[in-house]
Amino acid sequence: MSAFTTAFIGAGNMSRSIISGLLASGADPRSISASNPSDGPLDELRQMGLVNLSQSNLSVAEGADVVVLGVKPQIMQSVCEELAAVVCKDQLVVSVAAGVAADSLHRWIGGAADIVRCMPNTPSQLAAGASGLFARASVSDANRQRAEEVMRAVGLVRWVDEEALLHAVTAVAGSAPAYFFQFMEAMIAEARRMGLDEETARTLCAQTCIGAGRMLAEGDVDAGELRRRVCSPKGATERAVAAFSAAGLEAIVSKAMQDCYARSEEMGRELS
Ligand SMILES: NC(=O)c1ccc[n+]([C@@H]2O[C@H](COP(=O)([O-])OP(=O)(O)OC[C@H]3O[C@@H](n4cnc5c(N)ncnc54)[C@H](OP(=O)(O)O)[C@@H]3O)[C@@H](O)[C@H]2O)c1
Repeated sequence: MSAFTTAFIGAGNMSRSIISGLLASGADPRSISASNPSDGPLDELRQMGLVNLSQSNLSVAEGADVVVLGVKPQIMQSVCEELAAVVCKDQLVVSVAAGVAADSLHRWIGGAADIVRCMPNTPSQLAAGASGLFARASVSDANRQRAEEVMRAVGLVRWVDEEALLHAVTAVAGSAPAYFFQFMEAMIAEARRMGLDEETARTLCAQTCIGAGRMLAEGDVDAGELRRRVCSPKGATERAVAAFSAAGLEAIVSKAMQDCYARSEEMGRELS
């Protein structure tokens, strides 16, 4: 991991996930600072070995190579306007907030910093996240690399070259853990009705999800072909898959993702 200092503004769930990933990938705890209004999150970071902790956003942001904005979208404008007093040219500002446009962040923060937006997801807590990154055109190569290094600490990273594509990233990754949870909830409930105990149903379902995801991620075979390979002619899986198709699974998934995309766009308009 290359040496740069990173300041986290807001020490909530997402910031703490990224910090724990950075520490696990070998970052020096003294290179990371964080600010938060309440003590609880700062105490957790102290237990993880951090020493540069404060209730002042300005004192942690000043002079840091990278500033990660880990606050809720609704307070982003006021936090950026506060930071404008210390953020300077060449500093990299990474926002993990849903919706808030890079140009708005750039304007609120005083126009000096390099802005990168990131759309992460909750498996980041286990360093198994999937994040989409977007950089404003003026961001330097060095700062793009730093942004990627920070987010790679909590999982896989893909760049998009148009900001609007972050809505698609939200639909396929940011919000998507919830789709799989909903699907698994239904599977576990049905397995319980079929007689399995809760622990067995949950463990088998979760492991199957992990295994299927790994087969797609680690192989060179597409999802459709992987599905066909499980479906023996006239077998039980074929019957299950036919039931999904007959109930319109593809249309349901399409509608859900379109609704997610539209809400993400709408929030972007409300918050920027
Ligand atoms: N969690 C996710 O899975 C996820 C996924 C994608 C994107 N995100 C984005 O990540 C960002 C943070 O989400 P989160 O889930 O980590 O929320 P969170 O756990 O509520 O963290 C937000 C933190 O910001 C702190 N805060 C409030 N006002 C502040 C201020 N003026 N200055 C500095 N810190 C302040 C809060 O402190 P107090 O508790 O003391 O108020 C809290 O610790 C959001 O913008 C969200 O859109 C999260």
